[in-house]
Amino acid sequence: MSLLIRNAQLIDGSLVNIFIKGNTIYDITHRLPLADEYIDIAGKVVLPGLIDPHVHFRMPGDGHKEDWNTGSKAAVSGGFTTVLDMPNTSPPTTDRERLSQKRKLIEGKSYVNYGLYMGATSTNLEEIKSAEHIAGVKVYLGSSTGDLLADYNVLEAVLSETNVTVACHSEDEECLKRVQNSKFKTKKFGTLPVSYLHDHARPEECAKIAAEKVVEIIKRVKRPVYFCHVSSKSEIEILTKAKKDGLLVFIEATPHHLFLNKEFARDLGNLARVNPPLRSYNSQVALKNAVKAGIVDTIGTDHAPHTLAEKHCSYSKAPSGVPGLETALPLFLDWFNKGEVGLNQIVTLMSENPALIYNIQKRGKLEPGYLADIVVVDLELTKEIKNSRLYTKCVWSPFAGMQLTGWPIMTIVNGRVVFKDGDIVGRPGGREVF
Ligand code: DOR
Ligand code: ZN
Repeated sequence: MSLLIRNAQLIDGSLVNIFIKGNTIYDITHRLPLADEYIDIAGKVVLPGLIDPHVHFRMPGDGHKEDWNTGSKAAVSGGFTTVLDMPNTSPPTTDRERLSQKRKLIEGKSYVNYGLYMGATSTNLEEIKSAEHIAGVKVYLGSSTGDLLADYNVLEAVLSETNVTVACHSEDEECLKRVQNSKFKTKKFGTLPVSYLHDHARPEECAKIAAEKVVEIIKRVKRPVYFCHVSSKSEIEILTKAKKDGLLVFIEATPHHLFLNKEFARDLGNLARVNPPLRSYNSQVALKNAVKAGIVDTIGTDHAPHTLAEKHCSYSKAPSGVPGLETALPLFLDWFNKGEVGLNQIVTLMSENPALIYNIQKRGKLEPGYLADIVVVDLELTKEIKNSRLYTKCVWSPFAGMQLTGWPIMTIVNGRVVFKDGDIVGRPGGREVF
């Protein structure tokens, strides 16, 4: 099978034809080679399919929030062609047996390519060492959804004794406990809606302490750490300095920390409850500036669906997490349209860097020899984010109601069109990428 995408505009403005043979980009050319199938995209812009290093597809255990059918549809409709799934499922992915069970339950169901993390515990280093083809290891230094939690010694051991990519949830558990047992219980923020308090319950200080401690570990072990969802100005400062000092630090930012801040929690209530919390306007600006300056390495959506019923509980019972796969690219394309970032930066953050950092072979670029993972975007299309249009099983978005310009209109995974003009088409052909 061969496919010719005609009249594709690359981000440098040139018009080309993309010749795909099987699952691979064979040529990017001004010529018109004969193909079995042709799609004329009339000058629309093509980007390499997006790679999300941070999603929670909830299987096994929480299929009422998301599963691989709905999650992978959400991914491809948002322009993602590869996702890396976190291990905080029920049960958590902490040994080879559970890893292989997760692999079995995904097989044949995913529209998007994928990789799977293992979670670190105080007792599973040997399992991690012997696990094969994992995306990386996630170390939860602060407790969040699920019961995965590990301390700094575990992080240091995983770094020193393996060569896998290590991603960490960098909030200091002792700090979180201390705050929650003291200041937060005094209820001195009386007039604010309770959900606005989340940033007081898990303050920036806890993220700062964790970042400082992890940087010290990196200095000792001389191994890279991928900092998930960096949310605050103080972390940006610490990690920028670490980078300048030549330390191996990768910074992920999420769309919700970039395009929302804690003021939004006044209206969104528990829908804005997420770990780490939405921060101050100042931190949001610092994060945006770090993206523009090229200090942030990747965008991870941290797609973490919970049902509306769960979110509509009281603050103390509502789970933390927001979905993000279907809104990330439109948010960034809209930002591009406002002149804030270049398309080249979007490609670096959302395709190239995730592939490089996680060592995903032959994906993340539009080049002959690379796999044909492609997203076609309409930079002029303006649409409102509507819950009713979402594929995620939780069917809500913290960004609902926003009017954005720039949307994905077609997604090609491994050479096959799987999303077109709002609809999922074709079959689930996603593969494990490691
Ligand atoms: O808000 C969050 N939700 N933060 C996490 O660390 C986990 C995630 C989830 O799985 O719900
Ligand atoms: Zn997460």
